[in-house]
Amino acid sequence: MEAPTKNARLVKWVEKMAALAKPDQVVWADGSQEQYDELSQLMVDSGTYIRLNPELRPNSYLARSHPSDVGRVENRTFICSNSKGDAGPTNNWYDPAEMRAILNEKFDGSMKGRTMYVIPFSMGPIGSPISKIGIEITDSPYVVTNMMLMTRVGNEVLASLGEDGDFIPCMHSVGAPLEPGQADVPWPCEANIDDKYIVHFPETYEIWSYGSGYGGNALLGKKCLALRIASVMARDEGWLAEHMLIMGLESPEGEKTYLGAAFPSACGKTNLAMLLPPKGFEGWKVSTVGDDIAWIKKGPDGELRAINPESGFFGVAPGTNYATNPIAMDTIKKDVIYTNVALTDDGDIWWEGMTKEKPAHLIDWKGNDWTPESETPAAHPNGRFTAPAANCPTIDPAWEDPAGVAIDGFVFGGRMSKDMPLVYQSFNWSHGVYLAATMGSEATAAAIGVSAMRRDPMAMLPFCGYNMADYFSHWLNVGRRVSKPPRMFRVNWFRKDEEGKFIWPGFGENMRVLKWIVDRVHGRGNAVESPIGWMPQHEDIHWDGLDFPAETFYELMSVERDAGTAEAHAHEEQFDMFFDRLPKEFIFERELLRSRVWRSPEHWELAHEH
Ligand code: OXD
Ligand code: MN
Repeated sequence: MEAPTKNARLVKWVEKMAALAKPDQVVWADGSQEQYDELSQLMVDSGTYIRLNPELRPNSYLARSHPSDVGRVENRTFICSNSKGDAGPTNNWYDPAEMRAILNEKFDGSMKGRTMYVIPFSMGPIGSPISKIGIEITDSPYVVTNMMLMTRVGNEVLASLGEDGDFIPCMHSVGAPLEPGQADVPWPCEANIDDKYIVHFPETYEIWSYGSGYGGNALLGKKCLALRIASVMARDEGWLAEHMLIMGLESPEGEKTYLGAAFPSACGKTNLAMLLPPKGFEGWKVSTVGDDIAWIKKGPDGELRAINPESGFFGVAPGTNYATNPIAMDTIKKDVIYTNVALTDDGDIWWEGMTKEKPAHLIDWKGNDWTPESETPAAHPNGRFTAPAANCPTIDPAWEDPAGVAIDGFVFGGRMSKDMPLVYQSFNWSHGVYLAATMGSEATAAAIGVSAMRRDPMAMLPFCGYNMADYFSHWLNVGRRVSKPPRMFRVNWFRKDEEGKFIWPGFGENMRVLKWIVDRVHGRGNAVESPIGWMPQHEDIHWDGLDFPAETFYELMSVERDAGTAEAHAHEEQFDMFFDRLPKEFIFERELLRSRVWRSPEHWELAHEH
């Protein structure tokens, strides 16, 4: 197929990659519905896709991956900067020359017997000053169709690229060449985990991915480009590429506020981005700009403006239902690619938590018969839906505005069962950056029922493409350069009581916390100074429609002095690994925190003022 572009660098790169991977043919993705339908039919015929019942799930498909290929592989994700120090202590560094030698060998002939697709895609609205163009080469039609939903693909992108525009090359192969006559399998991939490679060259803005066909390993616009490489570009060019949802909140009076919110994976970002205001918030509207990634740049008036670089949602399916996220349930009624969820007898999908009652019979994500008595889950816990953002009933009217939306506040949260209050506000920008950099989240160690916390600065631990200490400095600098830095908040929806039960109802009720945040960013809303930041008292939160006693609220907000001291001490340990690159501000912030906490009453929850 002749290249539909006159961009010489692109034509040359595609020829070079074809010569390396040796596919049977080269096909360019044009972004058309016809091509989407054709590829989908091809996958139905080959067994990769199951077409779902068109009456129940119009224009939707189910894919089942190989059991070895079910999620991001952090230990096979590499940052290949020239110097190890530039990758920093939190990344997997690999010598770039050695890695290139490995990749050359892996990709040599890796597409034999297959079609090589070339996907021109734009992260962000085509032509926006914040957007970037990438070209993904892949031998997976599943990747092509997913990229068509998750990004803007096709000829318009090539037109915008022009003859000498720049692009980020993203080379992907599932790593399963076919010998002549060899039958294909529904989910080709490299089954050996140690032979998968998700590789980033930050100095040359390049991505190479080998061996996996799943999610962030293979849809290279998402984590690889929009976070790891974009974070490096953002450092070089003075903006921010963040693991953040973007949401709009409109008051009954019509005041509109946009927030960016960072949470580690599996903390409910999609649920928050699609929040449905609860009882007591009549007249409020919450809208969704994005659920996973935000690109944030200084606008013409000196304010920070954000776009969602994606055009779809790649959401975790299990646990999604009409109580936890009704908007998502409505978003995924049609035009969806489902991966690793269960199939019902009438050709629809199901996953754990979708309905209270379990269906009597299903085909599970591995393709086996399943009944409620089965000992394994019907859907894989990381089973996903890929859905076009345009199908979201609460998508924000400005979600495709090339200028982005003006961000008024940043929210940072992890999953913390104790010692972390429901909400508090930072004293200022550098304190806010410090709060974000020290955030952590618990993962349950299922075997012994205890939880271990991992520090996940700005929820970017797996996604920052360079040394995180430099990233902290970059954040500090961005705040200095804007006219009105957004206000910064820490939240925690996940605190538990002594019996291990969640104290806060979460989901739609999080609106109560967001309203206080909205009030604060507009200079309204009361707060008291505490050793760790500004905090609301019970009467500062809007409680209409929810009976939530002050006593329980203060339980949610409390921090013991000893726990606060231990936390400040733990920051020192966290920062040790960054040595001389740690911004000086962090040392002073830590000492101030330590002094404030140490001099506070032993038990300083806000209740003592009542
Ligand atoms: C993630 C995701 O893992 O968004 O963060 O899929
Ligand atoms: Mn994510």
